Amino acid sequence: MAASALRTRPAWASLKNHYQKMRRVHLRQLFDKDRERGERMAVEATGIYFDYSKNRITDETLGLLLQLAGEAGLRDRIDAMFRGDKINVSEKRAVLHVALRAPRGASILHDGQNVVPEVHAVLDKMAAFADRLRGGAWTGHTGKRIRNVINIGIGGSDLGPVMAYEALRHYSKRDMTFRFVSNVDGTDFAEAVHDLDPAETLFIVSSKTFTTLETMTNAHTARDWLLAGLKGEAAATAKHFVAVSTNAEEVAKFGIDTANMFGFWDWVGGRYSMDSAIGLSTMLAIGPDNFRAMLDGFHEMDEHFRTAPFERNLPVLMGLLSIWYNDFFGAQTVAVLPYEQYLKRFPAYLQQLTMESNGKHVTWDGVAVDYDTGPIYWGEPGTNGQHSFYQLIHQGTRLIPCDFIAFGRTLNPLGHHHDMLLANVFAQTEALAFGKTVRQVKAEGTPDWLVPHRLFEGNRPSNTLLLDDALTPATLGKLVALYEHSVFTQGTIWQVDSFDQWGVELGKALAQRIIPELEGASETKLEHDSSTNALIRRYRKLKGAG
Ligand code: F6P
Repeated sequence: MAASALRTRPAWASLKNHYQKMRRVHLRQLFDKDRERGERMAVEATGIYFDYSKNRITDETLGLLLQLAGEAGLRDRIDAMFRGDKINVSEKRAVLHVALRAPRGASILHDGQNVVPEVHAVLDKMAAFADRLRGGAWTGHTGKRIRNVINIGIGGSDLGPVMAYEALRHYSKRDMTFRFVSNVDGTDFAEAVHDLDPAETLFIVSSKTFTTLETMTNAHTARDWLLAGLKGEAAATAKHFVAVSTNAEEVAKFGIDTANMFGFWDWVGGRYSMDSAIGLSTMLAIGPDNFRAMLDGFHEMDEHFRTAPFERNLPVLMGLLSIWYNDFFGAQTVAVLPYEQYLKRFPAYLQQLTMESNGKHVTWDGVAVDYDTGPIYWGEPGTNGQHSFYQLIHQGTRLIPCDFIAFGRTLNPLGHHHDMLLANVFAQTEALAFGKTVRQVKAEGTPDWLVPHRLFEGNRPSNTLLLDDALTPATLGKLVALYEHSVFTQGTIWQVDSFDQWGVELGKALAQRIIPELEGASETKLEHDSSTNALIRRYRKLKGAG
């Protein structure tokens, strides 16, 4: 098989050779050789200090990675995205989430039309609704004030809203309850509503397509629950359901007045939509001004990505470093470790963003790749992870590059907590990079037999992102945009379509086929493999079906 375009790039070949040298180089040596490394290999932009010095790289590595970005045409691809080119080739769509946060008055064209005025029209409609609901002017069917908001959605129509709500809870309206229902497992819905009064509850049905099985099932269950609670008055739906979708027809069919629908566009991918109307629950929680501040944060990072030279460009550097470990060191995963409790759902959010985007086996031309694409992203907030899986990162046999995320200020300044938290961030990155040598372990009086157990090889790479400010709506926007554009950078190098998700389709289609086989009064002819057939039969027996 002929090598792919990526493998034939001169920088790729140079990086392969260079890796042979670098795999034996220890971070201890690199820091010993260059006393200034810690300050030199750091970039500051948009209020984020990005320290990448604890990576297994030299200036030569960086030069070659930047050369690779040049050879991959990253600059042109960035311009193409901002220009509204249809870079989502398999779905023939533009990729314009950057337009969602463009300031009023800006111009971003889609098929020759400036989309920014439409974006702001929706934002204004959301803001007007948010003000009415938060202020008590929008009441439920019985005239009671709405105190509970439940977002029903899944994937990009859930993970962004949940993550943003948790992240910005400090700014949220504390006398309101916000919940999120995504799973088709009825438990998710049951637990979300068990203590709520339907008369005080608003459902936001968030679905780009308005056809997603899980979301529509939950939406119907929500309507039944509401109507049961409000004595079957069908008109109640109008005051207790709003929709966020691109599909007005299906919204109307469900029975939601399209006047209460907040739209977005097919040029916004689900996992890139938390700053569109999909963020309605976020806006209801934190208010329109905070939501706009979040959009400004996104936009600041967009502008940085679009204009900063690559050697000082945060998302480009992060993306290239990820390529270095994924494709040359063979690292399978990346750990994202936010030292900020409010970011507890950030790793889950990033899993969709990164893995649905770059978990691809063919290039955008449909040619099978002959290199690894998208690594597995995972993580937990610090310091909790330190008492569980960090053991493996420190002393296991796998190389796991880590992103440490920390904030200069805390929103909850209690005693020494924040100093202790940050001490742990710095300690972890130091321990990972430099470890503890045999000599150091012995010098502590460790008996010889115990030395191997207490040895830390070090040379475990990490990035540290230290944000000047606390976690604010704006810093959250910057952080999310940073990862979005890092994903874009990686997808460009790998030449994959980071904006489609065909890999989720097969399972969806098979589930649709299996549902009637589980629910039918009598067993139908099963034509799956023998394992699937047996499981279906066993389940039917368990539920007492014929
Ligand atoms: O299952 C994949 C997916 O299409 C995601 O990309 C998307 O975020 C999610 O489903 C939800 O889709 P929708 O918003 O159309 O309900």
